[in-house]
Amino acid sequence: MEYRKMGRTGLMVSELCLGTMQFGWTADVTTSWAIMDAFVEAGGNFIDTADIYTNWAGEASYGGKSEEVIGNWMKERNCRADIVLATKVRGKMWSGPNGEGLSRAHIMRACDDSLRRLRTDYIDLYQCHWADLNTPIEETLSALSDLVSAGKVLYIGASNYPAWRLMEALWASDRYGLARFECYQPEYSLMERAGFEIEAMPLCKHHHIGVIPYSPLAGGFLTGKYKRDGAKVSSVRAEGIIGKYGNDNGYSVIEILESLATDAGKSVAQTALAWMLSNPVITAPIIGANTVEQLKDLLPAAGFRLGGSEMKCLNEATRYVRNWRPIWD
Ligand SMILES: NC(=O)c1ccc[n+]([C@@H]2O[C@H](COP(=O)([O-])OP(=O)(O)OC[C@H]3O[C@@H](n4cnc5c(N)ncnc54)[C@H](OP(=O)(O)O)[C@@H]3O)[C@@H](O)[C@H]2O)c1
Repeated sequence: MEYRKMGRTGLMVSELCLGTMQFGWTADVTTSWAIMDAFVEAGGNFIDTADIYTNWAGEASYGGKSEEVIGNWMKERNCRADIVLATKVRGKMWSGPNGEGLSRAHIMRACDDSLRRLRTDYIDLYQCHWADLNTPIEETLSALSDLVSAGKVLYIGASNYPAWRLMEALWASDRYGLARFECYQPEYSLMERAGFEIEAMPLCKHHHIGVIPYSPLAGGFLTGKYKRDGAKVSSVRAEGIIGKYGNDNGYSVIEILESLATDAGKSVAQTALAWMLSNPVITAPIIGANTVEQLKDLLPAAGFRLGGSEMKCLNEATRYVRNWRPIWD
């Protein structure tokens, strides 16, 4: 596993970050622990979660489940100090008008709740899950700065922010001497390029912000298991993924990946991740797995880079990708 600096900070993170949205949803607790064990054994140190995971997974689930699984695992393995732990705030966590958002009132309570579930006294990277345009950016940044001063949070980051809001935040941090977003978490993959590449990517490059893309395999489409012939894929996400990407363009991208993967002796998923890892703006894609076997298929992407001609081939094959859907209020 190689390690990279997160943006302009001195923090070193593994070039693959482990996503945990699956924990307590499509991966039970035993499997989740086995996935984290295998990730750490392979040299991974960077784990991403969110307070709301996984509140969409039916009545049996609730927000905070993924954080609890990670907190109990870190306690049992006594490995908190070895993990760069990222979580998020913004979604609805309790009833009432302040149960969600990025107000000072919501952030302060939500952070203490996350710390309790994670069984730790600090969060390495505390991220705003998506923008809250009802709260002034200065209020959000000043609450986050206070958490940094209190030692509860080491670095702050933003996810799903439109580039203009991210730029506004950088400006406010500079102007008022507040903590700065050092990391950005966009949706980004070969199937979802425009939303990040058009505005936020040059912004992150110019201002030396770390970038940790989520859904780098387009929810599993870029593993190559979805086929033109419509063979059934067993996944709770299959229907949505086929609806978004299961078309002639999408399958053509898979066929190009298959050919590049065969030439390199790698898998389709590893080649899709290598496309991302070969871009110097990227710090670490966030990989998600439901089983240890899936994780083990992804880990060899670490250290794998594509050459100029392979990058050009994939970039041209996905030039059509312009299905951008902004995520903010
Ligand atoms: N900030 C945000 O708003 C946001 C949003 C979404 C996710 N995230 C973060 O990003 C992480 C990753 O997102 P994602 O799960 O969408 O990532 P992804 O890498 O695009 O998709 C992961 C899914 O692909 C399938 N898969 C993975 N490896 C495979 C393999 N070797 N063979 C076959 N199938 C495989 C699995 O789904 P199946 O088994 O179901 O096919 C797995 O759950 C999440 O865990 C979360 O931490 C953040």
